[in-house]
Amino acid sequence: MRATSKTRMTDPAQMRALCLYHFGDPGDVLRLEDVPILVPGPNQVRIRVHACALNPADRAICAGFFGGAAPRGTGLDVSGIVDAVGRGGLQRGGWRQGIRPTRLHHRPQRHSAGAVEHAVLMAWARVPEGLGLLEASVLPMAVETGVRSLDLLGLTSGQTIVINGGGSMMGFAALQIALMRGAWVIATAGETFAGALPDLGAKVTPYGGGMVQRVREIAGGPVDLALHAALADGVLPDLIDMVGGDPRRVMSISDFDEGRLGVRTTGREPNLAPRYDALAEYADLAAQGRFTLPIARIFALEAWREALDLAFSNRACGKVVLLPEEADSAS
Ligand SMILES: NC(=O)c1ccc[n+]([C@@H]2O[C@H](COP(=O)([O-])OP(=O)(O)OC[C@H]3O[C@@H](n4cnc5c(N)ncnc54)[C@H](OP(=O)(O)O)[C@@H]3O)[C@@H](O)[C@H]2O)c1
Repeated sequence: MRATSKTRMTDPAQMRALCLYHFGDPGDVLRLEDVPILVPGPNQVRIRVHACALNPADRAICAGFFGGAAPRGTGLDVSGIVDAVGRGGLQRGGWRQGIRPTRLHHRPQRHSAGAVEHAVLMAWARVPEGLGLLEASVLPMAVETGVRSLDLLGLTSGQTIVINGGGSMMGFAALQIALMRGAWVIATAGETFAGALPDLGAKVTPYGGGMVQRVREIAGGPVDLALHAALADGVLPDLIDMVGGDPRRVMSISDFDEGRLGVRTTGREPNLAPRYDALAEYADLAAQGRFTLPIARIFALEAWREALDLAFSNRACGKVVLLPEEADSAS
């Protein structure tokens, strides 16, 4: 019988963790292992992880794109129950957290990323009543990126913005944030959420050939701003066209070809402070049913290969989530 989180003999000082010892393709370098549970340091908390939502950034981490040293873990968006608090951290006691660590740890905290049973965190927000831990786990990266991108663009009420990739989870979040700020939103999207996005308040048109003309027809001319929120190369000229030719009105979170085209990117802006402060507000909105991100599939930690394949496919059609507490069958 294969050991699962429910059946295996466990050492209380050990946990299962998705680890890598050198950088490369996630399928080649990641391993699911038993490793020591870490003690949180000053101003850190540790949670028993309920859910870890995956992001394309996890592949970049495995590839060494963000630097740092191996061994380390992966998994940036987590939720769970606090089970230890470092000096200067929170008061202990049953807090439920929807949290994103500010960075992945390396030695001595080398196994504490999110795809683990116990994660040490440096940034967090409380999960409000009314929001499940599963739903909380998918929020941090999308909320932080959406708020940061739209703030950097300077979006104000009454402006019209194109979100290219309203069906990507970053786009799905950003368009809701833009709508709540009083903007008019036109989203390009595939079939997955073409029906759902208008219900949120966006005008929707397919991405791909002819989208400049389609967006202009919907907007009645050039739009004020554009956010490129999908993994798709070669569309920045179209977005520059949509805003009437000024590349500084275009922000890209994925295609960083700004040197040649002059568009703005989240990677090169002078004010790059992470916007973890926004998480509590959007968690509250999610608890009230006013902000949402769809979940495509849920996997046990043992099924991490299948989960990562889907999360990195650029066709996930929603968030992909690992549940470290679950046994080894994927749902
Ligand atoms: N700079 C940052 O801080 C930052 C932070 C987070 C993410 N990112 C980047 O943002 C990108 C999106 O991340 P994500 O987590 O939102 O990805 P995701 O949810 O996995 O995006 C996949 C979805 O994108 C849509 N899509 C695929 N090709 C498209 C195209 N050509 N045009 C428009 N939409 C297309 C598809 O939806 P349909 O069903 O609509 O086809 C697909 O389901 C990634 O490149 C990621 O690395 C950057």
